Amino acid sequence: MQQLGSSKILVTGGAGFIGSNLVEALLGEGSRVVCFDNFSTGKQENIRDFLSHPNFSLITGDIRNSDDCRKACEGVDYVLHQAALGSVPRSIKDPATSNEVNIGGFVNMLVAARDAGVKRFVYAASSSTYGDHPALPKREDVIGKPLSPYAITKYVNELYAGVFADLYNMQVIGLRYFNVFGKRQDPDGAYAAVIPKFIKQLIKGESPVINGDGSQSRDFTYIGNVVQVNLLALFTDNPAALNTVYNVAYGESTTLNELYSQLTMLLQGLGVPAGEIRPVYGPPRAGDVQHSMACIDKARKLLGYNPKYSLSEGLQLAIKWYYENLK
Ligand SMILES: NC(=O)c1ccc[n+]([C@@H]2O[C@H](COP(=O)([O-])OP(=O)(O)OC[C@H]3O[C@@H](n4cnc5c(N)ncnc54)[C@H](O)[C@@H]3O)[C@@H](O)[C@H]2O)c1
Repeated sequence: MQQLGSSKILVTGGAGFIGSNLVEALLGEGSRVVCFDNFSTGKQENIRDFLSHPNFSLITGDIRNSDDCRKACEGVDYVLHQAALGSVPRSIKDPATSNEVNIGGFVNMLVAARDAGVKRFVYAASSSTYGDHPALPKREDVIGKPLSPYAITKYVNELYAGVFADLYNMQVIGLRYFNVFGKRQDPDGAYAAVIPKFIKQLIKGESPVINGDGSQSRDFTYIGNVVQVNLLALFTDNPAALNTVYNVAYGESTTLNELYSQLTMLLQGLGVPAGEIRPVYGPPRAGDVQHSMACIDKARKLLGYNPKYSLSEGLQLAIKWYYENLK
């Protein structure tokens, strides 16, 4: 993409999992990249390799602070807004902070981007917005009632994005991520995502806990596919593709039990005796949806999205990375 080399792009949450992968891809394309993060869940080590890059700069600050947001947006052409407090259980435990960061911080960033005249604002939305609607696969215009404070925050982001696009003539695109996984995703802590957590536990010989009976399903999406959609959303010149939201997924569903089997099989290929470890089944988690699978036709049609990594290809890459980096 030609525009990449000449653009200055702000990645909020750039020290986090998805943000740091976006930063890496953008630097690889020759863009100037500003990373804006408060390191609440992001890590210095995620950006360590970029610090000496001539096109990389870091702003340590908080999206809840409008002056920090303004500073971060100075001279920026495009924004990829990833900063938020993820995790449904975190938001159930502390809804107020999730609200402040995910909604208050989001509005601060929209205002700062508007005032700085950025060309386009692409933001991380979430599949949690589908809430309790039973339809499968999930299509962008059919959503249910939110099941958690986190889901509310992500849906409110979409509402604000629509209003800012209309009122202030901004170009805004939301990307509803479905269970993203890949390198640099945090395997530790109470709010860790299932794939990195299970990989680390299996490598260490520990039994992972599957919440519920393992029949719940997800559309697990490798980070390489997510990076692709972000770049397409930044530079599409299709007017019909603007000011809307897209599912970002692979478009297949896998149960947790199936995922567990795939992980043990792939780890055994690396010599980890994961086949001997049995999972422990725990109570289902509040606020979780039972099944999730995306229809990705809209992103295919309007953005030209063509996911390159299947679940098993993505898992192989992720497992290799954790295996090399956890030892
Ligand atoms: N990982 C997924 O499967 C998934 C699914 C749906 C949506 N999302 C969304 O994608 C985005 C990135 O998620 P991730 O998985 O990379 O999570 P992450 O926790 O690794 O990254 C979030 C980053 O935002 C930063 N941040 C948090 N609060 C901040 C604040 N107040 N000011 C500045 N920076 C702040 C964190 O320090 C971290 O670096 C989030 O908006 C998340 O809600 C992720």
